[in-house]
Amino acid sequence: MDELRNFLADYMDGLLAAHIIAVIAFMAGMLYLPRLYVYHAGTAPGSEASETFKVMETKLLKAIINPAFIAVWILGPVLAWITGAYLDTWLHIKFALVIILSGMHGLNVRLWRGFQADRREHDARYYRIINEVPAVLMVLIVLLVVLKPFGG
Ligand code: HEM
Repeated sequence: MDELRNFLADYMDGLLAAHIIAVIAFMAGMLYLPRLYVYHAGTAPGSEASETFKVMETKLLKAIINPAFIAVWILGPVLAWITGAYLDTWLHIKFALVIILSGMHGLNVRLWRGFQADRREHDARYYRIINEVPAVLMVLIVLLVVLKPFGG
């Protein structure tokens, strides 16, 4: 196991860059998908606009958010293992926030299914609120990884 860890440590910079790239792609989707839902909620089921939103949401979810989500979840724990950060308090708090963020992703997938089935489960206000949560979580996560508070 130590050999694998040393081998991966040689690629630390590349893995960190890949983690940040994946995080950017994931967050772009997490911030944009609920915004599409806000507009989608205002269209009539079966209308041309509604069908266009369905395609946009599906492409965003399947081509960007889901692959980036998987990459973040592989690269983050690998970095934590290489750096030994898995022992640090800041990472434990970050991990809890990432779990909530991942739950938001799960909620987005559930809402996506509803829209694909032409259901209108919530009003636009609901999606606007859903839109804010990932932004707040992202700010807290970035502060944690950069400042590394609570004594490492
Ligand atoms: C699966 C859970 C995740 C784990 C275990 C994890 C772990 C890590 C680790 C160990 C580092 C290297 C920190 C260092 O030593 O400088 C890192 C960097 C970073 N992570 Fe994550 N991460 C995860 C998910 C996320 C998510 C969801 C975000 C953003 C929403 C994020 C944002 C960042 C950023 C911006 C950096 C760069 C920080 C820097 O280089 O100063 N991570 N992550």
